[in-house]
Amino acid sequence: MSTTKTINLKNRPNGKPVLADFDIVSSEITELKEGEVLLSSKYVSVDPYLRGRMSNAPSYIEPFELDKPIASGTIAEVLESKHSNFSKGDYVSGMLQWKETQVATADGLMKVDPKKAPLSAYLGILGMTGLTAYLGLTEIGKPKKGETLVVSGAAGAVGSVVGQIGKILGMHVVGIAGTDEKVEMLKSEFGFDEGINYNTTEKMIKAIEKACPNGVDVYFDNVGGEISDAVLNNINKFSRTVNCGAISVYNNTEVPKSTSVQPFLIKKSSSMQGFVIFDLVDKHPQGIKQLTEWLLEEKLNYTETIREGFENIPQAFLDLFEGKNKGKMVVKL
Ligand SMILES: NC(=O)c1ccc[n+]([C@@H]2O[C@H](COP(=O)([O-])OP(=O)(O)OC[C@H]3O[C@@H](n4cnc5c(N)ncnc54)[C@H](OP(=O)(O)O)[C@@H]3O)[C@@H](O)[C@H]2O)c1
Repeated sequence: MSTTKTINLKNRPNGKPVLADFDIVSSEITELKEGEVLLSSKYVSVDPYLRGRMSNAPSYIEPFELDKPIASGTIAEVLESKHSNFSKGDYVSGMLQWKETQVATADGLMKVDPKKAPLSAYLGILGMTGLTAYLGLTEIGKPKKGETLVVSGAAGAVGSVVGQIGKILGMHVVGIAGTDEKVEMLKSEFGFDEGINYNTTEKMIKAIEKACPNGVDVYFDNVGGEISDAVLNNINKFSRTVNCGAISVYNNTEVPKSTSVQPFLIKKSSSMQGFVIFDLVDKHPQGIKQLTEWLLEEKLNYTETIREGFENIPQAFLDLFEGKNKGKMVVKL
């Protein structure tokens, strides 16, 4: 039986994950059975939410098991097929294990067309993060033309798309990101009206007030924590906060004693709603259709940070917490 390189979860991270939490091992490639396909991984997505699956706290998705492979969104080539829907040479997208080569059941795999878009785009703008941006903003944020949208984590995979959709919908869009270079990119490449570097801005409440002269109507929150507190200080009556992510607290080792968002929400009759993109699965086809249309019309733009090499998957994941990506972080094998 032949073997393949595999990345297992070695330890449950304590605080910020480190390379020693991962193990690169060799595992056997199982025999191909009816209904299965043999796949060669081409692009692997690394995502902040994987941090949650590395701990064993109850969540909307099962934790990873220790000494077992990690899995994430992956684009793979079919090497051999025992399923009528897939043939050798097809490219598929699915939730696959961090393995160079693997046998997987064909259920849950979706064919992707490399002639319509670069393969990596199916992990970002035409995949989970694009859908999160589009459905999170439109379904939960309920944006209206002329309103002000603030996006945190704005230069990342989700945030950069949220801001652009805000512009397509006629909003005043302000992005918050971690470097001057990212802030510049938001304005020059993605059409944001204003950008704020949270690492160099001392008075975030004031900076947001200045960038949003009419207050904040929709806050698309990717980071949580102090940045979000500063935005909430500026929300308008009947505003909406979309709780998409909270990366600034994913590595916390202690649960905060209390949160203080309620007074902001009460005073402004404002709402705050969390969501998980898998809740909106019935809307995914329409979302992909809309994102594809906007891409073809060149109303949407996207950027990616592409790392190379199977062994570099864990480092790429760690780098998300250091802000080392612009747009979607993927690893090319
Ligand atoms: N609800 C859902 O279904 C769903 C789906 C997908 C993603 N998400 C969430 O959406 C958020 C964005 O995901 P993504 O895939 O687009 O990742 P991403 O934004 O491409 O990458 C993470 C970014 O977060 C920023 N960051 C890291 N640590 C931070 C900190 N302590 N404070 C503030 N910012 C920090 C960094 O940018 P800076 O340089 O700007 O700091 C980094 O580039 C994540 O919180 C993720 O969990 C939710």
